[in-house]
Amino acid sequence: MKLTLIGTGYVGLVTGACFAEVGHNVLCVDNNKDKVSLLKAGKIPIYEPGLEDLVKNNVAAGRLAFTDSTAKGVEHGEVVFIAVPTPPQSDGSVDLTYIEAVAREIAQSLKPGHYRVIVDKSTVPVKTGEKVADTINRYSQKGCEFDVVSNPEFLREGCAIADLMQPDRIVIGSRSQRATDIMKAIYEPFHSPTYITDINSAELIKHAANSFLALKISYINAVAAICDAAGANVDEVADGMGADKRIGRAFLNAGLGYGGSCFPKDIKAFIHIAEELGTPFHLLKEVEKINAGQLDRFIQKIKNKLWVLKNKTLGVLGLAFKGDTDDIRNSVAIELCHRLLNEGASLRVTDPQALEKARPELGEANITYCPDTCDVFNNVEAVIVATEWKHFRNLPWKTLKEKMIAPIVFDGRNLLDYRSLREMGYDYTGIGRP
Ligand code: UDX
Ligand code: UDX
Repeated sequence: MKLTLIGTGYVGLVTGACFAEVGHNVLCVDNNKDKVSLLKAGKIPIYEPGLEDLVKNNVAAGRLAFTDSTAKGVEHGEVVFIAVPTPPQSDGSVDLTYIEAVAREIAQSLKPGHYRVIVDKSTVPVKTGEKVADTINRYSQKGCEFDVVSNPEFLREGCAIADLMQPDRIVIGSRSQRATDIMKAIYEPFHSPTYITDINSAELIKHAANSFLALKISYINAVAAICDAAGANVDEVADGMGADKRIGRAFLNAGLGYGGSCFPKDIKAFIHIAEELGTPFHLLKEVEKINAGQLDRFIQKIKNKLWVLKNKTLGVLGLAFKGDTDDIRNSVAIELCHRLLNEGASLRVTDPQALEKARPELGEANITYCPDTCDVFNNVEAVIVATEWKHFRNLPWKTLKEKMIAPIVFDGRNLLDYRSLREMGYDYTGIGRP
């Protein structure tokens, strides 16, 4: 099938490449001309495992192409997916400027006699589909036929391709049988359970699902605080809880809290949406409060051990908002660095993928960027794990100890094997670990 993706960011590019991989003919549109030139030259502007090969192979096979023209996109695809950003505004509500602008451009490119399905993939507040349909009606020529569908994405950065190729479920919010049949045909090669809902429910599924996952994380982080106070082990508590199929072990990893481009903004948005609808969601405010408190408690632990941070040099392992990505948007690791720098500490930092993206964010004052992970350990008073990169687990910890002023580790992601580190002579502090 001929498909168009508008917005070639994490979501749009991975989705477009996966659609091409299963045999669809995909045109990806982006209004950033530099990005389009890069992609046309075979360069991938983001790090996502497996994405580069997937894009290259499908471009070579003639199933994937790029353009900066929305008109060409609308002409190409019988189905046009919208995957542009929906950033938060200062009051937590969602800025729908890009969605509206794209809907308007699509409307102006529609032609009578060429039916199109306009699919919203971006995370949007409930009732956005209705507004998109109104906008397209308002700005399109008479006689243009279209349907609007909501088809939220559930991709996690770092394993986005697997999440798309083997999805837990596909959600199609549609009130038109014609559009629903086309959407089912697109996803047929993915052999996934499919849920057909009305548009409002599909939009709600995304916010409700992400908020629930964030709630799981805050729940285990609150339990971790109790473990700290009681001398228990939160990993063992999570294993014991998670073995119950009704609960499940996933997203019960205690740590510095959730970050990234989705959870923080989606939870804020859902709180705002609920409030606007007159049904305040107080539970989610508590989820946010616990999340924000994780970093405060962690920094307090560091201070309790090291006392004064001013003029001390600390090593930081990880800057991305989680492992297997170069994304630093709303990264708790970056926030941690800012807070330590504000305390007067100097930092030696590393990340397998996000080092260069972090540089403009953190600046050059009192900070040394270490492309070689092991250089972080040179003459530091302590090392802090801030991102859950598996790579950090397998460092030569035994010998790295010798490079440090004192062998002190703060593990903000409960990533390391604390028993063996202690055997090596490290002073280890985790989150909710004895
Ligand atoms: C975005 C949204 O943030 C998220 O809510 C939604 O679920 C999916 O889309 P992401 O793909 O991670 O997520 O965003 P980003 O990597 O910033 O990519 C968006 C792309 O859209 C950029 O390449 C940008 O240049 C492009 N864009 C933006 C357009 O093509 N047109 C516009 O009008 C605005
Ligand atoms: C999330 C959703 O999982 C995905 O379905 C949605 O479409 C986009 O948002 P993503 O933000 O890529 O995906 O990453 P995710 O793996 O969900 O992690 C989000 C944050 O939670 C990270 O900062 C991570 O470190 C943290 N996290 C995750 C925990 O602290 N503990 C956990 O157990 C899991």
